Amino acid sequence: MPKASDYTPLFRQWESIKKQHPDVLVLFRLGDFYEMFGEDAETGARELSLVLTSRECGPGRRIPMCGIPHHALQRYLVTLVQKGFRVALADQTEDPKEAKGLVRREVTRVVSAGTVLEDNLLGGPQHNYLLAVARAEGRYGVALLEVSTGSFLVTEPTVAATHLSAQPALGQSPADPGLAALLEEIARVQPAEVVLPPELGAEAPLRRALEQVYEGAVTISDTEPDWRGPAEELKAFFQVETLAAFGCEDLPAAQAAAALALRYARQNHLEALPHLQGLSTYSRAEFMVVDATTRRNLELVRTLRENSARGSLLWLLDRTLTPMGARLLRDWLLQPLLAPAAIDRRLDAVEELLSRRGEADRLRAELKAIYDLERLMGRTATGTANARDLRALADSLPHLPAIQRLLRGLDSEILAALAEELEGLQELAAYLDRALELEPAAGLTEGGLIREGFSPDLDELRALAAGGREWIAALQEQERARTGIRSLKIGYNKVFGYYLEISTANLHLVPEDYQRKQTLTGAERFITPELKEQEARVLGAQERSQGLEYDLFVEIRAEAARFASQVLRAAHALAALDALQSLAQVALEYNYVRPEVDDSDRLEISGGRHPLVERLHAEEPFVPNDARLDCTANQLLVITGPNMAGKSTYLRQVALIVLLAQMGSFVPASAARIGAVDRIFTRVGASDDLATGQSTFMVEMTEAANILNHATDRSLIVLDEIGRGTSTFDGLSLAWAMAEFLVWEIRAKTLFATHYHHLNELTEVLPRVVNYRIAVKEEGDRIVFLRRIMPGGTDRSYGIQVARLAGLPEAVIARAREVLHSLEGEDLGRAGGPTREAVQGVGAPVQLQLFEAAPDPIVEEIKASTRTP
Ligand SMILES: Nc1ncnc2c1ncn2[C@@H]1O[C@H](COP(=O)(O)OP(=O)(O)OP(=O)(O)O)[C@@H](O)[C@H]1O
Ligand SMILES: [Mg+2]
Repeated sequence: MPKASDYTPLFRQWESIKKQHPDVLVLFRLGDFYEMFGEDAETGARELSLVLTSRECGPGRRIPMCGIPHHALQRYLVTLVQKGFRVALADQTEDPKEAKGLVRREVTRVVSAGTVLEDNLLGGPQHNYLLAVARAEGRYGVALLEVSTGSFLVTEPTVAATHLSAQPALGQSPADPGLAALLEEIARVQPAEVVLPPELGAEAPLRRALEQVYEGAVTISDTEPDWRGPAEELKAFFQVETLAAFGCEDLPAAQAAAALALRYARQNHLEALPHLQGLSTYSRAEFMVVDATTRRNLELVRTLRENSARGSLLWLLDRTLTPMGARLLRDWLLQPLLAPAAIDRRLDAVEELLSRRGEADRLRAELKAIYDLERLMGRTATGTANARDLRALADSLPHLPAIQRLLRGLDSEILAALAEELEGLQELAAYLDRALELEPAAGLTEGGLIREGFSPDLDELRALAAGGREWIAALQEQERARTGIRSLKIGYNKVFGYYLEISTANLHLVPEDYQRKQTLTGAERFITPELKEQEARVLGAQERSQGLEYDLFVEIRAEAARFASQVLRAAHALAALDALQSLAQVALEYNYVRPEVDDSDRLEISGGRHPLVERLHAEEPFVPNDARLDCTANQLLVITGPNMAGKSTYLRQVALIVLLAQMGSFVPASAARIGAVDRIFTRVGASDDLATGQSTFMVEMTEAANILNHATDRSLIVLDEIGRGTSTFDGLSLAWAMAEFLVWEIRAKTLFATHYHHLNELTEVLPRVVNYRIAVKEEGDRIVFLRRIMPGGTDRSYGIQVARLAGLPEAVIARAREVLHSLEGEDLGRAGGPTREAVQGVGAPVQLQLFEAAPDPIVEEIKASTRTP
């Protein structure tokens, strides 16, 4: 790289900007392009598939260069930000026409994943949080800042664990429980970007642990801490005397995190942030914990197999009509409530919307007309909104009074309260409507923003320009008459301005006073002093009117920003209404019932259905099933049954019904009484996690360890097969020991599906264990799935029949039967599974169910040694 002194002035300017933003891709505006230079150009060319060229940057020296047209900026930004880059926009901050010498350029924004405002960068109905971490007094603090909506939350994550006696498993939660809670919160929130202060960024173990739970962008902020300390910094920013109203006055780590988030946003040139109305402190203690594993296993927002939104529970539930409603519904799903009273309030609202269909339909019709008020206000407040954004605001607000009237006619507590949040915005609506064109231009500098009648000055300039244009139009007729050239016409282009065009055939008729400007094939273009005089008037008026429109628009935007807190209050109320009507809509269409939620330990579901299986597998009518769990007699249900019978479906449907109930939704059942649970744990199937370097069995055991270390007697545990990833006897022993621990130590309500039929014998030695099976009917060598859950265990798996249904070659099926018969003939129980001779060289891993017809002395022995409390 050349020495600075070798650079041309332009590149000296670039270099000084680059020095201030060393870790950021600098997009440097040159004419109609944003250019990248040096290493940035190499990165940009690689990541955006651009052609890498070079440009002279000093005498005899060249620097790598690539660029993108300025109008395509948004598209490329999306790619870069999604890939985790931060991008600084170095714009021209003075009019090139007025610049003396080199045009001034400055970084006007740094765009990063966590601080974007543009809709096309935000993508999808989820929050776009910047999550800042800090540590103070030995505790971690977390701040969640969403600049696009003004939402700003803080917490100090604490460990919900009660069984931390056990050693943390390898590769699992770190030994430091504070760090574990922090990571859990990051995994839950899945922010767009994590910001760490330099001292935490330098901690290798923390960085490594973070990588395990979070794949997005991590930024080490180098902002200078404020000398006054975080509390004073926050007070100054929000202009308050105390942080008490924010609920975080005694949470120094949370304060430090909030201050860091603010500093980072401002460093990215989001200066004033007037839409940040304050902080709210939240505590995970108010919510059911839905950890990343459970979110994945229950397919709450993405499916397991395809990782698609379609087919997930959220996809099924989301009948929201506004983007803010969609975000809130997602929040509710991922943070179900704990307190029955709070749950009941939501259920009351859903029930009322369900019973008052007329009102609900009218509310829906109004909601449909409302745009993303949160993000529109976010852009307005940060000065990035364009006229279309403000128009969308203007078009949305007039629907509020109708919604308010409808809500006032309803009785449930939440809905009635929401009505009062929609107050006082009609003045703003009328003002914006009067000010803004109905279909304003997207750009801000070429007019087309402000409506006629808003500003007399503007109207006058426009009339002047229009008058000039009319004069010019009239001139065409006048000159045709004067010259006798019928084809004479007046045109306009950017280079010559207005001109008179005469075809070659008529050139002999051109009058003296015409001045030739341009020769084309078949025609010549002329001007007259008169025409140029009018042109100057038109263009001058036009330019001034565009300038005035821009100035007026900036004023209007600032005026709208003053209403930020009111608009956001209304937006939050509309989000809640939208989420509630969505739940009512789903309940109506899918025939869900209101669950009874209380503080008991009971779980009683009659006629429960799996919300997705019943909708997505239409070829087979869904068979509803009951469930009954409690902590006294039905604590641990061992569920056996053939492959494909419906064990996994049943387990998930129970978990999903509980989760739906606690988020305030009706449930797919004919009746449900649900004692609120503090957490739903899931351990489902086999999944390789090659990315984090864990084998199938390791993942399985890590998840099991997490459950045994964290579950309480208020938790619901779903274990869909345990110990399958290892040898039969290891697996069975682990499963057995876990069941004992769950019964004696944890006492959590547990559903345990297994192919280890020996676990049915737990009922003989442990209290509170109940066996269930999923019934099938045998017809010859075929099986018919009845899908019904019945008391009692099973002793057969029908693995071979199911394999046949799956289309395994007939020869393999026949041979498998032979092997099975010979295995069943042997006494296989004693020495650790079937011998190679027994399977006659088949050598395949042998499933336990293959030999369970034989009496089993080993199991007898385990049973004899089963521990008592
Ligand atoms: N109650 C039901 N009514 C109708 N269809 C059902 C029901 N339960 C399950 N099914 C159907 O059966 C399929 C298999 O069910 P599931 O995966 O729950 O079986 P499983 O017993 O867990 O099998 P495996 O032992 O192989 O894991 C489901 O994908 C679903 O289509
Ligand atoms: Mg299964």
